[in-house]
Amino acid sequence: MLRTKRVHLAGVFPALIAGALLFCGCGEAPQTPQDKGTKPGQAGPTPVVAQPAPGEQGKQPGGIRIGFVVKQPEELWFQNEWKFARMAAEKYGFELLTLGASDGERVLNVIDTLGTKGAQGFVICAPETRMGPAIMARAQKYGMKVIAVDDQFVGADGKFMQVPYMGLSAREIGRNVGKALWAEMRRRQWPPAETAACAITHDELNTVKERTDGAAEALVEAGFPAERIFRSNEREMILPSAHEAASIVLTQHNDVKYWLVFSVNDEGVLGAVRALGERGLGAERTIGIGIGAGTGLLELKKETPSGFFGTVMISPYRHGYETTEMLYKWIKDGVPPPLDTRTAGVLATRENYKQVIKDLGLEDVAGDK
Ligand code: GLA
Repeated sequence: MLRTKRVHLAGVFPALIAGALLFCGCGEAPQTPQDKGTKPGQAGPTPVVAQPAPGEQGKQPGGIRIGFVVKQPEELWFQNEWKFARMAAEKYGFELLTLGASDGERVLNVIDTLGTKGAQGFVICAPETRMGPAIMARAQKYGMKVIAVDDQFVGADGKFMQVPYMGLSAREIGRNVGKALWAEMRRRQWPPAETAACAITHDELNTVKERTDGAAEALVEAGFPAERIFRSNEREMILPSAHEAASIVLTQHNDVKYWLVFSVNDEGVLGAVRALGERGLGAERTIGIGIGAGTGLLELKKETPSGFFGTVMISPYRHGYETTEMLYKWIKDGVPPPLDTRTAGVLATRENYKQVIKDLGLEDVAGDK
C-alpha cells in the first residue's frame, strides 16, 4: 500500500509479470554504506528558492514552519514530493518552505535561511549524504528537527546515521526491475547470447547501488549471463549524464542485437534509451525499465513507444506528504517519527499505467486529475 488506498492487483498486470510486481519492504536494515555522495562544489543548475506554500500568507507569527530541501529541484520526482508536502501543509495549517540545494555550500545556506525564518524543522534530500553530521550540527544550532528523505545520511564513521529517514526498499525495487526485464525478454524470446544489459549507475550513493545491484542480481538469478551486464557510472543523476554513460557502453559493444536497460531512476533509463534510439535500437530492440513517478510516465503516455518499456512507480505522496506530516507531529506533539521507513513500488507499463496510477491514488503526479 503506497497511500491510504488498497492496491488491487487482479486484472491489472499482464500475466507474465504479475507475480513479481507488488512488493513492500518496511523497516529493512540498512545495507553496508558506500555512499560518498556527489562532489562538493559540483555545478548545480538551480538557485536556492524559498517559496511559501499556497495559503501561507497571513499565517500568525509563531506558527509551525517546516522546510523541504531537495538536491535536484528540476527533477519531477522532487517537484512531486513538494506537491504532496504542500498538501500536508494545507491540511495541518503549517507553513512550508521549499528550497533547492544542489551542493554542500547551498545546503548550509538554506539551513541558515530556514533558521533565520524561524522554521522548527526540515525534511531534506541532501546532495551529499556524507554531509549528514554537518547538516545535523547546523540544524542543532537553530534547534531544528530533521528528517532525511530519499538519500540516507552517512556519518564520519561511514555508517548510516540515526536520523529519522524515509527511503525506498532499494534492493527489493531493483530486484523487481530485474525480474520484469527478464520476463519481458523471455516473452519476446530474445536469446541471451544476442542480448546485453546496460546498467546506468552512480555507485557512490547507496540507494542507487542497491537498486542497480538488485536488478543485476535478479537477472543473473533468473539465468541472464553476468558477463553481459555492462555497468556505466553517470556523473550526475540526470538524463544527459545517463546518455553519456550509455554511449560509452554502446560504442564498446556495437555488435549487440538486443538491450535491457536499468538504472537508479527514470532519467537514467531514458538517457540510455535515447542513446540506443539514436543508434536505431528502438522499441523493438530495447527493454528499459525505470524507477520513478513522473518522467517515465510522460514517456509511456507518448503515442509512439520507445525502448522505455515501463517504470516501477514509487510514491512521492509518501515521501512528500508523510515525511512533512511526521515532522509536523514531532514538532507540535513531540511524537518522534520512526527511524527507518521504507517504501515500495509497483511496475507500470503502457498496458496498465492508468490503472496503476489510479490504484495508487497518484492521479496528481500524472496530470490525470
Ligand atoms: C534518489 C534519486 C531520485 C529518486 C529518489 C527516490 O534520491 O536520485 O531520482 O529516485 O532517490 O527515493
